[in-house]
Amino acid sequence: MFTKDQIRELKSQGNGAILHFVKDIKESNKILFLLENLGHLPKDFDGNWLLNYLYNKNSQVRFWAVKNLGKLNDENYLQALSEVAKKDSDTTVRREAVSSLGRMRNPKSKEYLYALLKDEDPKVVCQAIRGLLVFRDDKEVQNVLKPLINHPNEMVKTVIYKEYFSQIKSKNEQLHPDSYDFLKNTVVNGDVREILKNVPDESVHLTFTSPPYYNARDYSIYPSYKDYLKFLEEVFKEVYRITKEGRFFILNTSPIIIPRVSRSHSSKRFPIPFDIHHYLIEMGWEFIDDIIWLKPEASVKNRNAGFLQHRKPLAYKPNAITEYLLVYRKQTEKLIDWNIHQYDYHTVKESKVEDGYETTNVWKIDPTFDKVHSAVFPAELCRRVIKYYSFKNDLVFDPFAGSGTVGRTAKSLDRYFFLTEKDEKYFSYMKEKTHPKTLFKEKEIHFLTLEQFKKTIIL
Ligand SMILES: C[S@@+](CC[C@H](N)C(=O)[O-])C[C@H]1O[C@@H](n2cnc3c(N)ncnc32)[C@H](O)[C@@H]1O
Repeated sequence: MFTKDQIRELKSQGNGAILHFVKDIKESNKILFLLENLGHLPKDFDGNWLLNYLYNKNSQVRFWAVKNLGKLNDENYLQALSEVAKKDSDTTVRREAVSSLGRMRNPKSKEYLYALLKDEDPKVVCQAIRGLLVFRDDKEVQNVLKPLINHPNEMVKTVIYKEYFSQIKSKNEQLHPDSYDFLKNTVVNGDVREILKNVPDESVHLTFTSPPYYNARDYSIYPSYKDYLKFLEEVFKEVYRITKEGRFFILNTSPIIIPRVSRSHSSKRFPIPFDIHHYLIEMGWEFIDDIIWLKPEASVKNRNAGFLQHRKPLAYKPNAITEYLLVYRKQTEKLIDWNIHQYDYHTVKESKVEDGYETTNVWKIDPTFDKVHSAVFPAELCRRVIKYYSFKNDLVFDPFAGSGTVGRTAKSLDRYFFLTEKDEKYFSYMKEKTHPKTLFKEKEIHFLTLEQFKKTIIL
């Protein structure tokens, strides 16, 4: 075996010395030691002997041969590196070859890197993008890279988004913690889809909502389950648009049962959270967490009566004591820290979550029953969501406000709220709940029709 000092000595002896030295070495561990310890290579270093190892049977040897060739800014090696990048059987070696092509920073490497943008391995594609970004001011490179925003792979999309699209400033010049006065503590009666047409991009800090349950309750009649999902898609796309950069959307749903029409039919179960998830991801929401809301068994509908008697397999029906809170974040390349740093010291301090917070993703909370609305949020559920996912003075939105629990809770936690509710009965009920004795009392609340709301818009 030889030493690192010997390798240094050989390098200093100029071209040919290493070639002469390695020609009789057969053991791959020795070659590997040499390749790993070559270190910095002088400008005029002759790397031709390295080409012999690009097809060695040991993938580590190939890897290090590629890495060393990348240190030499010599366009004579572009073709060889590109062949390895395309064809090597080991993906690590392929990626290193792409990286070496990029490290050369040679304009002639562009053609080779363009070809690698079509590779099946997204990591190879990302590596090729990185190599090309050295030429980011080159119009031709921009024209090749920008269309990759539509690449099927999310990692590739993120790299391109960060590079070319994140700099586009929102039209909304508002500071991140601010929100429009005309939305603060406002409840609008109407279809959320119509109302949101009047709400600017990036207006709200947090959305917490529980959508109508397909056709499981009387207030929600849709022609088909597909139409129902399309309806939610439409609403949540708008929620995405009006959400501030990097902020959260918490969706409360659960699979629902549409009862059977007669004894000769069976009831049908629709897995709403699992079906809607796909739409949310497609529109840009980034999945963050799934929280289970766990209720006491006695509080839910008993589906066990029949089975309790007959105990026949296949007819088993567990009582559904859980609902989901699916947590999503609006896509951004910025870290959560960026969002936090938008607030002043005082607001961050005042908004800190006190001891005793829930440390798991299973939240045991009793449901709340209401005399007017059949599906209200327990205030404790709202309290947790609002405390964990917003700062004081933020604007919290609920597109399907129902009895207004999100609004009242937001208010009690020194946040503002913006609510929309289609049903007049529930809209009036919310107004009723603003009786002076309730929490809604202190700050002015605006209960508006859509037409009245349109007149209040001041940007
Ligand atoms: C599950 S409830 C929400 C209850 C609410 N979380 C609470 O604590 O009272 C869903 C609500 O969405 C409302 N809704 C349904 N379609 C709507 C639409 N297109 N626009 C606005 N509200 C709608 C229904 O009237 C219903 O009150």
